[in-house]
Amino acid sequence: MIKTEYFSLKFIDKHLVFLDQTQLPFHEKYIQTTSYERVAEAIEKLEIRGAPAIGLAAAYAVVFSQENGYSKSAFNKAVGRLAKTRPTAVNLFWALNSMQKVFASLAPSEDSYSFLLHKAHSLYNDDVAMCDAIAVNGASLIKKGSVVLTHCNTGRLAMGGGGTALYVIKQAFDAGNIKHVFVDETRPLLQGARLTAFELTHYGIPFSVITDSMAAHIIKTEKVNLVITGADRITSNGDSANKIGTYSLAILCKYHGIPFYIAAPSSTIDVALPSGDKIVIEERGAKEVFQIQNTLLTDSSFPARNPSFDVTPSELITGIITESGVFDYPYKFV
Ligand code: MRU
Repeated sequence: MIKTEYFSLKFIDKHLVFLDQTQLPFHEKYIQTTSYERVAEAIEKLEIRGAPAIGLAAAYAVVFSQENGYSKSAFNKAVGRLAKTRPTAVNLFWALNSMQKVFASLAPSEDSYSFLLHKAHSLYNDDVAMCDAIAVNGASLIKKGSVVLTHCNTGRLAMGGGGTALYVIKQAFDAGNIKHVFVDETRPLLQGARLTAFELTHYGIPFSVITDSMAAHIIKTEKVNLVITGADRITSNGDSANKIGTYSLAILCKYHGIPFYIAAPSSTIDVALPSGDKIVIEERGAKEVFQIQNTLLTDSSFPARNPSFDVTPSELITGIITESGVFDYPYKFV
């Protein structure tokens, strides 16, 4: 099933090449584009997904707006379009801000394409380095023989580098400390069952996919030692937005007296927001609740809700692992 040394996205030969994650694990199909509009669509459709990968894709996408030379209006149009794709992951806005700062420093006579591309590459390289540091910092918390539960996908598919929570798990596995990983399927879009399972298979790490509703039973009966997930936006008090279902896992950990960790790069920390109630939660279409791939599960005219993220209050988070170290409650990042 896994044929190649897969990657989420890369800039190759003047194109952004990305893996269409909606087709995993069945097909490893790479798409190449030089269109920021196509990148925006890919982010909306979750062909490219995961907070850091969304930011990097947007950074490369704005470079394409300068293909015909310096153009402020083309740049602003691209930034405006990309900023509307997904509201919750702060990495998107962090990356667009970084690109805006570079563009603002340029004179119209300068080669805006090259300067912006240089910045996008440096964001990508920083992401790789941050993942490596997060993996080392996080793995130091995982003891020999650990049974771990994770949610959504936080591996190489979600980043430019190796990942956050899933890369911590890989690092701990390589150190001989992981006995088993339970993977929440992550309804409705199945990032756990499709993407995390794909990555764990690639790494040869023993795992079982469970439905999200099995988590409490599995934590109790399989003696799960810790839960670790990623985040899409962490506010300055440590409240953390992540894939819907994360909050209930943190509550389960509290009840069962086991640690609940978040692993994320500093680009996910939104120091401007004081607390999680200010985070905009993406609400996606009802179709995703009623349909898996092309199979309709129930009557699609039924009313439904589809909040894509939830916010875990900081007091439920045992530690937030970043490239700088492991923070604990009460959180202060600066
Ligand atoms: O909707 P998605 O698949 O983009 O959501 C992804 C998550 O919630 C991840 O946990 C988060 O982005 C961290 S990825 C390192």
